[in-house]
Amino acid sequence: MMAPVQILGVAKCVPEKIVTNVDLESLVDTSDEWISKRTGIKTRHVAVEETAIGIAASAARDALAMSGIPAEEIGVIVACTITGEELTPSLAGRVQKALNISNCAAMDVSAGCTGFLYALITAASLMETLHKDAAIVVASELMSKYTDWTDRSTCVLFGDGAGALVLKRSEIAHLLYPILDATPDVDDVIVVKKEERATPFSGPVDDKKEYIRMKGADVFTYAVGVLEGTLRRLAEQCGEKPYTKIVPHQANEKIIDFVVRSMRMSREQFFVNIANYANTSSASIPIALCDAWESGWLNAGDRVALVGFGSGLTSGGAVIDWTIPNKNETK
Ligand code: UT7
Repeated sequence: MMAPVQILGVAKCVPEKIVTNVDLESLVDTSDEWISKRTGIKTRHVAVEETAIGIAASAARDALAMSGIPAEEIGVIVACTITGEELTPSLAGRVQKALNISNCAAMDVSAGCTGFLYALITAASLMETLHKDAAIVVASELMSKYTDWTDRSTCVLFGDGAGALVLKRSEIAHLLYPILDATPDVDDVIVVKKEERATPFSGPVDDKKEYIRMKGADVFTYAVGVLEGTLRRLAEQCGEKPYTKIVPHQANEKIIDFVVRSMRMSREQFFVNIANYANTSSASIPIALCDAWESGWLNAGDRVALVGFGSGLTSGGAVIDWTIPNKNETK
């Protein structure tokens, strides 16, 4: 069971360097026109000096400062990444260290691009189980480190970034209707293999570094199915108080356009910022929430549906009753 929580802080951190579609034309046989038309992507942020830990800590720090919650009140940190620089300690442990939080539960979850929804629902559930009053949920991805920059079918699609939310126990639940699902990826439609290592007991290993490998059309079909299915399930759960806005995982604008058409929804209900960031995997939903709020698109009183989907094959959804006032009103 999840604790009744309210979102009190939201922040993002993206690497400074911006790589345009035109920049990619000199790396692979592609064009700004192809990328824009097929995906909606225009630019992406790419790490030069930044680390997944560094941008996660920065987003978490800013979200915590915004929440006004003292660091010592944080009882749970749940982080997600598929592209972190360390296998252990966890990214959550590194964020805990960076924020100087002396004692809390800290762990990572791994669920591909759905990672943030898994982390959010895990954090609210741990708050209930462990009787904690506040949590940080943070997603951070350096997709550029696992991108094959010679493969035009994938290198144009991804970007780097981090986003974080701070949850506080509240009288009434503002995080509602959790959905987490997974279906076996029988055809390996999205896989990132780890580099194999020889041991004194193993045979020879393939020392080729492995990158993101994706069967794009199959992922597209999966994505539109779960985006539509999850939105319908959330609509049923909401009953007479429907969600009016949607912040979906930003994988490809065409996925969103497809679902808008098939569900006969208004495109204006969907927040889309993929043009500026490309697909930042698990970080895309918190980055989008942050931009949605900063731009004034998301306001206190809005009921917003979140939907994620990704490797695994995983999917997830939840509804948030947003309470943070418009940025201009909070100053
Ligand atoms: O977070 C979840 C992870 N990923 C996704 O959600 C991605 C889901 N899938 C997609 O978004 C789309 O399938 C892609 C954007 C990946 C691909 O779009 P598509 O319309 O399905 O293109 P395609 O793979 O069918 O390729 C069409 C053509 C091919 O050329 P031929 O065989 O028709 O001559 C590709 O080689 O486009 C070619 N192509 C490119 N051309 C220029 C593939 N990538 C590029 C490129 N620039 N970057």
